[in-house]
Amino acid sequence: MRRFSVFLIFSLLVCLTLATREKKLGRKNQPKDRKMRPHVEGFLGCPYNNDFYYNGVIASPLYPKNYPKDDKCWYYMQAKPGYVLSFNFTHFDLDTLDFVTIYDGPSDISPILAQIGGPNGTTQTPKGIYYSSERHALVTFTSNLKSTPKSGFSFEYKSVFTSYPCNRDILLGINAMGGLKSQGNYLRQISFIGNYLVKNWTVGLDQTRVFINLQTDADYALVYPATDPEMTTTAGVQEVILNLSEYADNVVDNDTVTDFNGMFRYLESDISIDPADNGERAYTQKVVILFIASNPNDDQDYYEALEYAHIMRTTEDTKVITVAMGSDLDVAKIGKLSYGEGFYFGADYSNLPSLTDKINAAICADIDTKCGV
Ligand SMILES: *[C@@H]1O[C@H](CO)[C@@H](O)[C@H](O)[C@H]1NC(C)=O
Ligand SMILES: *[C@@H]1O[C@H](CO)[C@@H](O)[C@H](O)[C@H]1NC(C)=O
Ligand SMILES: *[C@@H]1O[C@H](CO)[C@@H](O)[C@H](O)[C@H]1NC(C)=O
Ligand SMILES: *[C@@H]1O[C@H](CO)[C@@H](O)[C@H](O)[C@H]1NC(C)=O
Ligand SMILES: *[C@@H]1O[C@H](CO)[C@@H](O)[C@H](O)[C@H]1NC(C)=O
Repeated sequence: MRRFSVFLIFSLLVCLTLATREKKLGRKNQPKDRKMRPHVEGFLGCPYNNDFYYNGVIASPLYPKNYPKDDKCWYYMQAKPGYVLSFNFTHFDLDTLDFVTIYDGPSDISPILAQIGGPNGTTQTPKGIYYSSERHALVTFTSNLKSTPKSGFSFEYKSVFTSYPCNRDILLGINAMGGLKSQGNYLRQISFIGNYLVKNWTVGLDQTRVFINLQTDADYALVYPATDPEMTTTAGVQEVILNLSEYADNVVDNDTVTDFNGMFRYLESDISIDPADNGERAYTQKVVILFIASNPNDDQDYYEALEYAHIMRTTEDTKVITVAMGSDLDVAKIGKLSYGEGFYFGADYSNLPSLTDKINAAICADIDTKCGV
């Protein structure tokens, strides 16, 4: 009894902490490779709190008055989780010695997206809208001791997607096991994924990255990292997927006793290995789509799958989408292993294409924050 109430209080605290954290937008969670800088009060007109989130406007010191000479400001920026940042300059008026630098990443050792103005500028005036390739960006403003101060700059920043369905690392867990029940079903799955699901995706290293895990039996998978040259274009990914028909020429031969949790076990291990090994990006939201062909064999099988699904969702911060294929599957029960309501689907093999838009929407959707259900 006592234990039970302690547990209740503990859960309540966790709920409260999570709720508070949500409001504070995780300001304490600075990226690991951010350089720590002492706060320098002398830097005139720079914002005291220089962390910027999601959407807003940033202007030069003292704007719209002239900025001070010999000044330097840092603006650390984060898009909404899963998004990238856009920069739209609405005003730009600097001395030729002064410049704005946009770093594509969390710190000033990240690659330079643009340096606008100054002796080493990549451009002297803003050229259209700039987009970061991941969630973080750093913008700095530097004015020279010898410059004649001007009115400076102002830009809008927003959390946006620059690709369809959105900027994600997407791992496809494709099924080639006996649960499919026929080679025809295997080919219908491949055709759905290759000809419908990924057809519209803007695949690219800075856009939507795609990884493939083809599960040929309970102990063997064929894996394509996102950085393989053929995986870096939409046409390449489609071709790889459609070619998978050759890798399993009779799925029913191989593994008639299907291992339900095997799909979850393999996909969990794919995303928990060193990101550098398969081309995962550091600050990009991960999505795993599992194509499930059979119900769990028994409770043991189901609970093992649940454990792997749990690790994917929590430790690996990954959105898990389940697609139950075939008319005799328990879509809702399998869906309990997904990210939540709205992230599980089911259709008979011939109807899989009808799921295309719904799955694409789920890939980009945010989950409702709740403390358990
Ligand atoms: C950029 O800003 C200009 C000026 O405010 C505005 O007209 C334009 O629609 C903006 N572009 C985007 C993509 O937000
Ligand atoms: C411009 O580049 C040169 C050569 O790399 C460097 O010496 C100089 O300090 C740079 N100037 C500025 C303002 O960054
Ligand atoms: C797909 O298969 C064809 C025929 O075997 C082959 O020529 C092609 O290189 C394959 N493409 C990819 C991306 O593996
Ligand atoms: C069966 O599984 C093996 C690996 O265990 C794989 O090499 C082979 O391609 C599979 N064969 C079929 C017909 O699916
Ligand atoms: C891409 O997907 C969107 C949303 O499903 C759809 O409206 C559009 O027709 C698709 N375009 C192509 C070329 O398939």
